[in-house]
Amino acid sequence: MKARITSNLEEAKNLLEKGALVAIPTETVYGLAGNAFSAETVIQIFETKNRPHFDPLIVHVANRERVGEVVAEIPEVAQELMKNFWPGPLTIVLRKSSAVPDIVTSGLETVGVRMPNHPMTLELLRSLDFPLAAPSANPFGYISPTSAQHVAKQLGDHIPFILDGGVCSVGVESTIIDCTQSKPVILRLGGTTIEQITNAIGEVEVNTVSSSAPQAPGMTLSHYAPRKPLFIGDIRALLNSMKGNVSVLSFKDEYAGCRTIRLSETGDLREAARNLFSAMRELDAEDTTAIVAEWVPDIGLGRAINDRLRRAATK
Ligand code: TXA
Ligand code: MG
Repeated sequence: MKARITSNLEEAKNLLEKGALVAIPTETVYGLAGNAFSAETVIQIFETKNRPHFDPLIVHVANRERVGEVVAEIPEVAQELMKNFWPGPLTIVLRKSSAVPDIVTSGLETVGVRMPNHPMTLELLRSLDFPLAAPSANPFGYISPTSAQHVAKQLGDHIPFILDGGVCSVGVESTIIDCTQSKPVILRLGGTTIEQITNAIGEVEVNTVSSSAPQAPGMTLSHYAPRKPLFIGDIRALLNSMKGNVSVLSFKDEYAGCRTIRLSETGDLREAARNLFSAMRELDAEDTTAIVAEWVPDIGLGRAINDRLRRAATK
Protein backbone atom coordinates (compact mmCIF):
# COMPACT_ATOMS: atom_id res chain seq x y z
CA MET A 1 0.00 0.00 0.00
CA LYS A 2 1.27 3.47 -0.81
CA ALA A 3 -0.73 6.31 0.70
CA ARG A 4 -2.31 8.81 -1.63
CA ILE A 5 -1.70 12.39 -0.48
CA THR A 6 -4.42 14.82 -1.55
CA SER A 7 -6.82 17.35 -0.10
CA ASN A 8 -9.87 15.48 -1.38
CA LEU A 9 -12.33 15.43 1.53
CA GLU A 10 -14.82 13.21 -0.28
CA GLU A 11 -12.25 10.44 -0.59
CA ALA A 12 -11.28 10.74 3.07
CA LYS A 13 -14.94 10.52 4.06
CA ASN A 14 -15.58 7.43 1.93
CA LEU A 15 -12.57 5.59 3.32
CA LEU A 16 -13.46 6.42 6.92
CA GLU A 17 -17.03 5.26 6.36
CA LYS A 18 -15.67 1.95 5.09
CA GLY A 19 -13.70 1.51 8.31
CA ALA A 20 -10.28 2.42 6.86
CA LEU A 21 -7.70 4.70 8.49
CA VAL A 22 -6.93 8.17 7.18
CA ALA A 23 -4.23 10.56 8.34
CA ILE A 24 -5.78 13.96 9.06
CA PRO A 25 -4.33 17.43 9.58
CA THR A 26 -4.98 19.33 12.80
CA GLU A 27 -3.54 22.57 14.12
CA THR A 28 -1.28 20.61 16.51
CA VAL A 29 0.06 17.55 14.71
CA TYR A 30 -1.30 15.10 12.12
CA GLY A 31 -3.56 12.38 13.50
CA LEU A 32 -4.10 8.78 12.41
CA ALA A 33 -7.89 8.73 12.36
CA GLY A 34 -10.60 6.10 12.32
CA ASN A 35 -14.23 5.67 13.35
CA ALA A 36 -14.19 6.02 17.14
CA PHE A 37 -17.35 3.89 17.43
CA SER A 38 -15.83 0.91 15.62
CA ALA A 39 -13.65 -1.33 17.78
CA GLU A 40 -12.32 -3.10 14.69
CA THR A 41 -11.13 0.15 13.17
CA VAL A 42 -9.60 1.33 16.41
CA ILE A 43 -7.61 -1.93 16.73
CA GLN A 44 -6.07 -1.12 13.34
CA ILE A 45 -4.94 2.26 14.69
CA PHE A 46 -3.03 0.59 17.54
CA GLU A 47 -1.51 -1.96 15.16
CA THR A 48 -0.46 0.55 12.53
CA LYS A 49 1.28 2.73 15.12
CA ASN A 50 2.69 -0.20 17.03
CA ARG A 51 1.14 1.42 20.05
CA PRO A 52 0.68 -0.42 23.36
CA HIS A 53 -2.95 -1.08 24.18
CA PHE A 54 -2.69 0.63 27.57
CA ASP A 55 -2.25 4.05 25.92
CA PRO A 56 -5.72 5.61 25.30
CA LEU A 57 -6.70 7.60 22.21
CA ILE A 58 -8.17 11.09 21.91
CA VAL A 59 -11.62 11.37 20.32
CA HIS A 60 -12.13 14.27 17.91
CA VAL A 61 -15.56 15.86 17.56
CA ALA A 62 -17.09 18.33 15.07
CA ASN A 63 -18.51 20.72 17.66
CA ARG A 64 -19.59 21.14 21.28
CA GLU A 65 -23.07 19.81 20.61
CA ARG A 66 -21.69 16.42 19.63
CA VAL A 67 -19.61 15.88 22.78
CA GLY A 68 -22.74 14.35 24.32
CA GLU A 69 -22.31 11.35 21.99
CA VAL A 70 -19.10 10.30 23.71
CA VAL A 71 -19.27 11.45 27.33
CA ALA A 72 -21.62 10.67 30.22
CA GLU A 73 -21.67 14.18 31.65
CA ILE A 74 -20.15 17.62 31.09
CA PRO A 75 -19.28 19.47 34.31
CA GLU A 76 -19.51 23.24 34.31
CA VAL A 77 -15.76 23.76 34.27
CA ALA A 78 -15.53 21.68 31.09
CA GLN A 79 -18.26 23.78 29.46
CA GLU A 80 -16.23 26.84 30.34
CA LEU A 81 -13.08 25.36 28.81
CA MET A 82 -14.89 24.40 25.60
CA LYS A 83 -16.35 27.90 25.33
CA ASN A 84 -12.92 29.47 25.71
CA PHE A 85 -10.63 27.12 23.83
CA TRP A 86 -12.56 25.14 21.21
CA PRO A 87 -11.87 24.68 18.44
CA GLY A 88 -8.27 24.50 19.57
CA PRO A 89 -5.38 22.59 21.14
CA LEU A 90 -7.11 21.47 24.34
CA THR A 91 -8.17 17.89 25.11
CA ILE A 92 -10.67 17.53 27.93
CA VAL A 93 -10.87 14.25 29.86
CA LEU A 94 -14.44 13.43 30.92
CA ARG A 95 -16.41 10.36 32.04
CA LYS A 96 -17.09 8.32 28.92
CA SER A 97 -20.43 7.18 27.52
CA SER A 98 -21.10 3.54 26.67
CA ALA A 99 -21.00 4.40 22.95
CA VAL A 100 -17.21 4.59 23.12
CA PRO A 101 -15.63 1.12 22.85
CA ASP A 102 -13.30 0.21 25.73
CA ILE A 103 -10.34 -0.20 23.41
CA VAL A 104 -10.43 3.55 22.61
CA THR A 105 -9.84 4.44 26.25
CA SER A 106 -7.69 1.42 27.14
CA GLY A 107 -10.39 0.32 29.54
CA LEU A 108 -10.53 3.63 31.43
CA GLU A 109 -13.91 5.02 32.50
CA THR A 110 -12.86 8.36 31.02
CA VAL A 111 -12.29 9.65 27.51
CA GLY A 112 -10.16 12.49 26.13
CA VAL A 113 -12.20 14.69 23.76
CA ARG A 114 -11.19 17.58 21.58
CA MET A 115 -12.48 19.78 18.76
CA PRO A 116 -9.47 20.46 16.53
CA ASN A 117 -8.98 23.81 14.87
CA HIS A 118 -8.35 22.92 11.24
CA PRO A 119 -10.90 23.92 8.58
CA MET A 120 -10.54 20.73 6.51
CA THR A 121 -10.77 18.37 9.43
CA LEU A 122 -13.71 20.25 10.91
CA GLU A 123 -15.53 19.96 7.59
CA LEU A 124 -14.69 16.26 7.47
CA LEU A 125 -15.93 15.72 11.03
CA ARG A 126 -19.19 17.54 10.26
CA SER A 127 -19.77 15.31 7.25
CA LEU A 128 -19.40 12.07 9.24
CA ASP A 129 -21.95 10.60 11.60
CA PHE A 130 -19.28 9.32 13.98
CA PRO A 131 -16.38 11.02 15.82
CA LEU A 132 -12.75 10.22 14.98
CA ALA A 133 -10.34 8.49 17.32
CA ALA A 134 -6.90 9.76 16.42
CA PRO A 135 -3.49 9.52 18.05
CA SER A 136 -0.60 11.40 16.50
CA ALA A 137 0.28 9.79 13.15
CA ASN A 138 3.77 8.57 14.04
CA PRO A 139 5.15 5.17 14.99
CA PHE A 140 4.92 4.84 18.79
CA GLY A 141 7.71 6.68 20.59
CA TYR A 142 8.91 8.74 17.63
CA ILE A 143 8.51 12.48 16.92
CA SER A 144 4.96 13.57 15.97
CA PRO A 145 4.34 14.62 12.34
CA THR A 146 3.59 18.25 11.52
CA SER A 147 3.18 17.83 7.75
CA ALA A 148 1.64 15.31 5.34
CA GLN A 149 5.16 14.48 4.15
CA HIS A 150 6.24 13.52 7.68
CA VAL A 151 3.32 11.10 7.83
CA ALA A 152 4.10 9.67 4.39
CA LYS A 153 7.69 8.96 5.33
CA GLN A 154 6.84 6.83 8.33
CA LEU A 155 3.36 5.41 7.79
CA GLY A 156 2.91 5.84 4.03
CA ASP A 157 3.28 2.12 3.39
CA HIS A 158 0.66 1.19 5.97
CA ILE A 159 -2.29 3.49 5.32
CA PRO A 160 -4.27 4.21 2.15
CA PHE A 161 -4.71 7.96 2.41
CA ILE A 162 -3.26 11.15 3.87
CA LEU A 163 -5.44 14.24 3.85
CA ASP A 164 -3.04 17.09 3.12
CA GLY A 165 -3.90 20.20 5.09
CA GLY A 166 -0.48 21.82 4.97
CA VAL A 167 1.93 22.42 7.82
CA CYS A 168 0.43 22.39 11.34
CA SER A 169 0.07 25.92 12.71
CA VAL A 170 0.68 25.14 16.40
CA GLY A 171 3.18 22.30 16.05
CA VAL A 172 2.99 20.66 19.50
CA GLU A 173 0.21 18.38 20.70
CA SER A 174 -2.86 19.55 22.57
CA THR A 175 -2.80 20.29 26.27
CA ILE A 176 -4.70 17.58 28.18
CA ILE A 177 -6.82 18.54 31.17
CA ASP A 178 -8.71 16.08 33.37
CA CYS A 179 -12.09 17.44 34.45
CA THR A 180 -13.32 14.33 36.25
CA GLN A 181 -11.82 15.29 39.63
CA SER A 182 -13.04 17.98 41.98
CA LYS A 183 -10.26 20.23 40.72
CA PRO A 184 -9.10 20.22 37.06
CA VAL A 185 -5.67 18.64 36.53
CA ILE A 186 -3.40 19.28 33.57
CA LEU A 187 -1.96 15.92 32.46
CA ARG A 188 0.03 17.08 29.43
CA LEU A 189 1.48 20.47 28.54
CA GLY A 190 0.69 21.50 25.00
CA GLY A 191 -0.70 24.09 22.62
CA THR A 192 -2.98 25.79 25.16
CA THR A 193 -0.85 27.42 27.85
CA ILE A 194 -1.32 27.12 31.63
CA GLU A 195 -1.55 30.90 31.71
CA GLN A 196 -4.49 30.89 29.27
CA ILE A 197 -6.27 28.15 31.22
CA THR A 198 -5.76 29.86 34.57
CA ASN A 199 -7.14 33.08 33.12
CA ALA A 200 -10.27 31.29 32.02
CA ILE A 201 -11.05 29.01 34.98
CA GLY A 202 -8.70 29.94 37.81
CA GLU A 203 -6.05 27.79 39.51
CA VAL A 204 -5.48 24.26 38.20
CA GLU A 205 -3.24 21.44 39.29
CA VAL A 206 -0.46 20.29 37.03
CA ASN A 207 0.51 16.64 37.13
CA THR A 208 2.52 15.80 34.06
CA VAL A 209 5.20 13.61 35.58
CA SER A 210 3.62 10.73 37.47
CA SER A 211 3.13 8.77 34.32
CA SER A 212 3.58 5.19 35.46
CA ALA A 213 -0.17 4.99 36.06
CA PRO A 214 -2.56 4.68 33.08
CA GLN A 215 -3.54 8.33 33.65
CA ALA A 216 -1.30 9.59 30.88
CA PRO A 217 0.68 6.66 29.54
CA GLY A 218 1.62 8.61 26.43
CA MET A 219 3.72 10.69 28.72
CA THR A 220 6.26 8.02 29.52
CA LEU A 221 9.58 9.78 29.64
CA SER A 222 11.21 8.46 26.51
CA HIS A 223 8.73 9.86 24.05
CA TYR A 224 9.03 12.13 21.03
CA ALA A 225 12.51 10.75 20.64
CA PRO A 226 14.77 11.11 17.64
CA ARG A 227 16.94 8.07 16.86
CA LYS A 228 20.09 10.04 17.52
CA PRO A 229 21.24 11.05 21.02
CA LEU A 230 20.03 14.51 22.02
CA PHE A 231 21.72 16.47 24.81
CA ILE A 232 20.29 19.59 26.41
CA GLY A 233 22.18 22.30 28.24
CA ASP A 234 24.51 25.17 27.50
CA ILE A 235 25.21 24.68 23.79
CA ARG A 236 28.76 26.14 23.89
CA ALA A 237 29.74 23.97 26.82
CA LEU A 238 28.22 20.87 25.24
CA LEU A 239 30.03 21.54 21.95
CA ASN A 240 33.34 21.96 23.79
CA SER A 241 32.92 18.70 25.64
CA MET A 242 31.89 16.59 22.66
CA LYS A 243 33.96 15.05 19.93
CA GLY A 244 32.78 14.43 16.39
CA ASN A 245 30.28 15.97 14.11
CA VAL A 246 27.36 17.34 16.11
CA SER A 247 24.30 19.37 15.05
CA VAL A 248 22.77 22.19 17.04
CA LEU A 249 19.11 22.90 17.81
CA SER A 250 19.11 26.42 19.21
CA PHE A 251 16.33 28.70 20.35
CA LYS A 252 17.45 31.80 18.43
CA ASP A 253 21.24 31.99 18.09
CA GLU A 254 23.56 30.89 15.32
CA TYR A 255 26.59 28.72 16.23
CA ALA A 256 29.44 29.31 13.84
CA GLY A 257 30.99 26.24 12.29
CA CYS A 258 28.11 23.94 13.26
CA ARG A 259 25.07 22.80 11.42
CA THR A 260 22.45 24.79 13.36
CA ILE A 261 18.67 25.00 13.19
CA ARG A 262 17.29 28.03 15.03
CA LEU A 263 13.73 27.53 16.27
CA SER A 264 12.97 31.24 16.04
CA GLU A 265 15.47 33.91 15.08
CA THR A 266 13.35 36.53 16.84
CA GLY A 267 12.84 34.43 19.98
CA ASP A 268 9.12 33.93 19.38
CA LEU A 269 7.85 30.88 21.30
CA ARG A 270 4.92 30.29 18.95
CA GLU A 271 7.24 30.15 15.97
CA ALA A 272 9.60 27.92 17.97
CA ALA A 273 6.78 25.47 18.80
CA ARG A 274 5.72 25.38 15.16
CA ASN A 275 9.27 24.50 14.06
CA LEU A 276 10.27 22.12 16.87
CA PHE A 277 9.30 18.70 15.52
CA SER A 278 10.34 19.31 11.92
CA ALA A 279 13.70 20.64 13.16
CA MET A 280 14.20 17.51 15.27
CA ARG A 281 13.37 15.32 12.28
CA GLU A 282 15.68 17.21 9.98
CA LEU A 283 18.63 17.02 12.35
CA ASP A 284 17.90 13.38 13.06
CA ALA A 285 18.15 12.59 9.33
CA GLU A 286 21.51 14.31 8.89
CA ASP A 287 24.95 12.87 8.83
CA THR A 288 25.94 13.85 12.36
CA THR A 289 26.37 11.72 15.47
CA ALA A 290 24.33 13.71 18.00
CA ILE A 291 22.14 16.76 18.54
CA VAL A 292 22.80 19.38 21.20
CA ALA A 293 19.95 21.67 22.23
CA GLU A 294 19.08 24.25 24.86
CA TRP A 295 16.06 25.05 27.00
CA VAL A 296 13.76 27.85 25.85
CA PRO A 297 12.20 30.32 28.33
CA ASP A 298 9.89 28.30 30.60
CA ILE A 299 6.75 30.40 30.10
CA GLY A 300 3.68 30.05 27.86
CA LEU A 301 4.31 27.66 24.99
CA GLY A 302 7.92 27.42 26.15
CA ARG A 303 6.81 24.95 28.82
CA ALA A 304 5.43 22.56 26.19
CA ILE A 305 8.59 22.95 24.10
CA ASN A 306 10.83 22.20 27.11
CA ASP A 307 8.63 19.23 28.00
CA ARG A 308 9.10 17.72 24.52
CA LEU A 309 12.84 18.40 24.61
CA ARG A 310 13.10 16.70 28.03
CA ARG A 311 11.28 13.63 26.74
CA ALA A 312 13.40 13.49 23.61
CA ALA A 313 16.69 13.81 25.48
CA THR A 314 19.16 11.04 26.13
CA LYS A 315 19.16 9.94 29.74
O1 TXA B 1 -2.84 17.35 19.59
C1 TXA B 1 -3.20 16.20 19.86
O2 TXA B 1 -3.73 15.90 20.92
C2 TXA B 1 -2.97 15.13 18.78
C3 TXA B 1 -3.89 15.43 17.61
C4 TXA B 1 -3.85 14.34 16.55
O3 TXA B 1 -5.18 15.65 18.07
N1 TXA B 1 -3.18 13.84 19.31
C5 TXA B 1 -2.33 13.25 20.19
O4 TXA B 1 -2.68 11.95 20.51
O5 TXA B 1 -1.35 13.78 20.64
P1 TXA B 1 -1.69 10.92 21.19
O6 TXA B 1 -2.37 9.62 21.06
O7 TXA B 1 -0.35 11.00 20.61
O8 TXA B 1 -1.72 11.29 22.69
C6 TXA B 1 -2.88 11.01 23.43
C7 TXA B 1 -2.60 11.00 24.89
C8 TXA B 1 -2.38 9.62 25.46
O9 TXA B 1 -1.06 9.20 25.33
C9 TXA B 1 -2.75 9.84 26.90
O10 TXA B 1 -1.63 10.32 27.57
C10 TXA B 1 -3.80 10.92 26.83
O11 TXA B 1 -3.78 11.43 25.54
N2 TXA B 1 -5.15 10.41 27.07
C11 TXA B 1 -6.08 9.99 26.19
N3 TXA B 1 -7.20 9.59 26.81
C12 TXA B 1 -6.99 9.78 28.12
C13 TXA B 1 -7.76 9.55 29.29
N4 TXA B 1 -8.99 9.05 29.24
N5 TXA B 1 -7.20 9.87 30.49
C14 TXA B 1 -5.96 10.39 30.56
N6 TXA B 1 -5.18 10.61 29.49
C15 TXA B 1 -5.68 10.31 28.30
MG1 MG C 1 1.58 10.87 20.28
